Amino acid sequence: MQNAVANYVVITGASSGIGAASAYKLASRGYNLILIARRAARLNDLKAKIHASYPNVTIVVRPQDLAIIDDLPKMYAQLNQNYAIKIWINNAGFGKIKSLSHYQLTEVTQMIRTNSEAVALLTTLFAKDHEQDNVQLVNVSSRAGYHVWPNTIMYSATKFFVSALTEGLADELRTKGAKMQAKVLAPNATATEFQRVAKDLDHDVNYADVFPKYNTSATLADFLIQLLNSDATVGLVNDHYELELSDSRLP
Ligand SMILES: NC(=O)c1ccc[n+]([C@@H]2O[C@H](COP(=O)([O-])OP(=O)(O)OC[C@H]3O[C@@H](n4cnc5c(N)ncnc54)[C@H](OP(=O)(O)O)[C@@H]3O)[C@@H](O)[C@H]2O)c1
Repeated sequence: MQNAVANYVVITGASSGIGAASAYKLASRGYNLILIARRAARLNDLKAKIHASYPNVTIVVRPQDLAIIDDLPKMYAQLNQNYAIKIWINNAGFGKIKSLSHYQLTEVTQMIRTNSEAVALLTTLFAKDHEQDNVQLVNVSSRAGYHVWPNTIMYSATKFFVSALTEGLADELRTKGAKMQAKVLAPNATATEFQRVAKDLDHDVNYADVFPKYNTSATLADFLIQLLNSDATVGLVNDHYELELSDSRLP
């Protein structure tokens, strides 16, 4: 959108966890929001909760299954034409935790589509339109997007893709002297719905039972703000669960 002060933040995967906490935090900073995920009711609940604290923020709810790749160019075009977007955050994602041979093939394709393919497409579309604008793109990778552990190989591979794509784009934009910045946020274990989805459970997981240490989604939202306010390309949550801001980490 031309001739408007860019003040909208798009957050995919905003219906829970890191995305929802980031939406709340960014609203507190005065940003208008476009919230994307499949569960419309959860997005509308979040909209009401944010409006209760920040009534002046404009919040657009956009239910969308990001694994339906063919629908994404139309979704992107509608949002880009109608709203002045300052920050685009590709956060939606999930991982199944099991040995590779135990995967259903549909789990593999869903994970690749949601975690990698959708991010690749939305990143490309946003860069095509906004390379010369003062905007930021943040792609949420993972600590597992920089290290491979047993039982998360396929998930790691989808997140290595995100890390490589985003670091590469950041470098390309800098070399070109473009105004747009591309950044990676790589969380370590964070208490969200991730473990429930990863293990196909019908109840939330008590993170203290699984991890000796972990972050809350509110902490990740704070880390996101620090990454946005920095010139770093990568915000990686290290093994001490602290944010490490750095230039590209990949060779
Ligand atoms: N929690 C961790 O320990 C951890 C660690 C490293 C990286 N991460 C990454 O952090 C990001 C956020 O995850 P989280 O921990 O906050 O988990 P979460 O609570 O499960 O949130 C995942 C979000 O992604 C959305 N999503 C999943 N599939 C989607 C699809 N096909 N279309 C649209 N939206 C979809 C979910 O919404 P709907 O179900 O409503 O669609 C939800 O809002 C993910 O990329 C994850 O890989 C998490």
